[in-house]
Amino acid sequence: MDRIRIVGGSPLNGSIPISGAKNAALPLMIASLLTPETVILENVPRLSDVRQLMRILGNHGVDASIDGKRAGQADDAGETVRFSARTIVDTTAPYELVSRMRASFWVIAPLLARMGEARVSLPGGCAIGTRPVDLLLQALESLGAKIDIDAGYAVARAPSGGLRGGEVAFPKVTVGGTHTALMAATLAHGTTVIENAAREPEVVDLAQCLIGMGARIEGAGSSRIVVQGVTSLGGVRHPVLPDRIETGTYAMAVAMTGGDVLLRNARPELLQAALDVLAQTGAEVTSTNEGVRVRRNGGGIAPVDVTTEPFPGFPTDLQAQFMALMTRADGTSRIRETIFENRFMHVQELARLGARIRLDGDLAIVEGAPVLKGAPVMATDLRASVSLVIAALAAEGETMVHRVYHLDRGFEALEKKLVRCGAEVERISG
Ligand code: UD1
Repeated sequence: MDRIRIVGGSPLNGSIPISGAKNAALPLMIASLLTPETVILENVPRLSDVRQLMRILGNHGVDASIDGKRAGQADDAGETVRFSARTIVDTTAPYELVSRMRASFWVIAPLLARMGEARVSLPGGCAIGTRPVDLLLQALESLGAKIDIDAGYAVARAPSGGLRGGEVAFPKVTVGGTHTALMAATLAHGTTVIENAAREPEVVDLAQCLIGMGARIEGAGSSRIVVQGVTSLGGVRHPVLPDRIETGTYAMAVAMTGGDVLLRNARPELLQAALDVLAQTGAEVTSTNEGVRVRRNGGGIAPVDVTTEPFPGFPTDLQAQFMALMTRADGTSRIRETIFENRFMHVQELARLGARIRLDGDLAIVEGAPVLKGAPVMATDLRASVSLVIAALAAEGETMVHRVYHLDRGFEALEKKLVRCGAEVERISG
């Protein structure tokens, strides 16, 4: 198992290219199951979750091929990948494949919509709370599906004649639920209305791609989405939007270490709430034609209270990184996590570096410490592990981060991007 060795203390200076968003790429890839024609995705990040989903789609009969690099294309540009689901050969997504990544459960929607049946193992993924799929299944039932749970699998069947439009009213905002309802509704007969839909940019990206394939969707990005079903969908070429969580992560790293970094291709409107909070901590955040520039030269880190919320609020996927930043603040901050239970696994590991954090239910009270000291730590989930990297970059001495396969799921070329900005970071294989 690989480890990452970090020697803290260097400020970050330079430029970091922001990759395509993992959380957009995954549903876009899954949407390719809806059509026998070719879906070409550009700016796909090189991540283990993307590779794993390619294997899962391959099992259903999707042919995925990565285009070679074009002349003049930048080294750090994402990949262009062609997905072709000419024939679906299998409507079962087995436990061995699905259990490693929760988002792969979403294949249930296009399989059901196109083939009238799907048998998908109940998911695994990050160890952050129970993360049920009840709302996803209820959404499919609202479109006429009949669903049974059998031996760890969700077995879904469409009525004869296919799914039919209906009213999907989510009792709480769910990104995966909205993706699922959206994909299923595109091929249902009649009109579907999705109420209390997630407004995340990744939902909008999926809707735009589906519209490019011929779907009729209005209202994506608002909490009410209306879909008129069509009989078939075609091919499309679609660029994956830049990763707002990767953007926020490096922005917080710069606020932590000090320095001056341009986050190239970043789109500030995708994470305005987080950037506003960063500015309140004392970092200078500016939008440029090329992306977002973050600076902190001297001066302390002001403590700021934060509550995670669905988009456009402060994202839960940046909570751990922000907590790392607050461990060095000049005072006490309160961070409330409202999206997931049990999403504080990074607290114990941050404490190993000298952070002073007290937990009270969904609230973390972080008392800023003047110094952190390097130590061996363990990555526990995707976003938690990158919070350890941020803390280590500002800690005195050496930190060894174990189990970095969590990082490889969601952060493309992490150590390369940091090293180019002057950090002392090294991957140790084996
Ligand atoms: C997605 C993101 C993840 C992010 C999360 C919230 C991807 C691949 N993952 O996850 O990085 O942290 O959105 O922004 O895009 N819930 C239920 N029943 C359900 C579904 C969800 O109770 O059937 C609950 C969850 O337990 C959680 C809340 O709803 O408390 C939000 O979860 P959801 O938005 O669905 O998260 P994901 O789509 O899994």
